[in-house]
Amino acid sequence: MTSMLRLVDVSKSFVLHNQGGIVLRVLDRLSLEVRAQECVALVGPSGIGKSTILRIAHGNYAPDSGRVIVAADGRATDIAAAPPRRILALRRDTLGHVSQFLRVIPRVPSIEVVAEAARDAGATPAEARARAEAMLARVGIPERLWPLSPTTFSGGEQQRINIARVFVVPYPVLLLDEPTASLDAENRRIVVGLVREARLRGAAILGIFHDPEAREAVATSEIDCTAVLRAA
Ligand SMILES: Nc1ncnc2c1ncn2[C@@H]1O[C@H](COP(=O)(O)OP(=O)(O)OP(=O)(O)O)[C@@H](O)[C@H]1O
Ligand SMILES: [Mg+2]
Repeated sequence: MTSMLRLVDVSKSFVLHNQGGIVLRVLDRLSLEVRAQECVALVGPSGIGKSTILRIAHGNYAPDSGRVIVAADGRATDIAAAPPRRILALRRDTLGHVSQFLRVIPRVPSIEVVAEAARDAGATPAEARARAEAMLARVGIPERLWPLSPTTFSGGEQQRINIARVFVVPYPVLLLDEPTASLDAENRRIVVGLVREARLRGAAILGIFHDPEAREAVATSEIDCTAVLRAA
């Protein structure tokens, strides 16, 4: 299967400028690859650097060294060296990122948060609206909440909006940061179904799944971060 996402010798340290310039070395020459139809799960203790890997793959954090190769439109782009405009285009069309927390503009209705993602990725307004409605229904957000901003929603509801706005677009690469955290058993099952479907349609998935049952249901392989990340 085609390689969709490849990290090559990626290193990342954080310098805490306002805390005496302490340097946290998080990633030390990490390499990994995710192919189409694979779901690679990152496992390891809190604080080891799992979310940092996803943020680097999404172009949010620039690595200190190494390459982050994303396959899109028949070519490979090193997102670590790409101009901002190319990174934005990759995020719009290629890389779906479910972050640990929902960040949205206040007062925008939930239905619009989800429909906008579909429009940005090329759907017509009518298609986007229909797909957003179907996805909100699928993740169990009641219709009476669709016109409301998710800013006041419960933790689990916000998480499902976060999931809906990513899964409404058939992204070739998915970066999933604990998509089943703070969900009840029924909603975890729904999200597991979405992840499996995405994989079967060909998506390459790099994810963090705290819940072992969810992880076993979706992952095709695991990377033990304790073994590969601990910087010298
Ligand atoms: N922007 C940042 N500035 C400074 N330090 C950071 C930053 N982002 C992450 N870190 C540090 O990098 C380390 C790894 O963080 P990361 O969020 O990747 O951990 P994680 O494995 O996802 O943990 P968890 O399972 O708790 O979500 C932590 O020590 C964290 O404090
Ligand atoms: Mg994390």
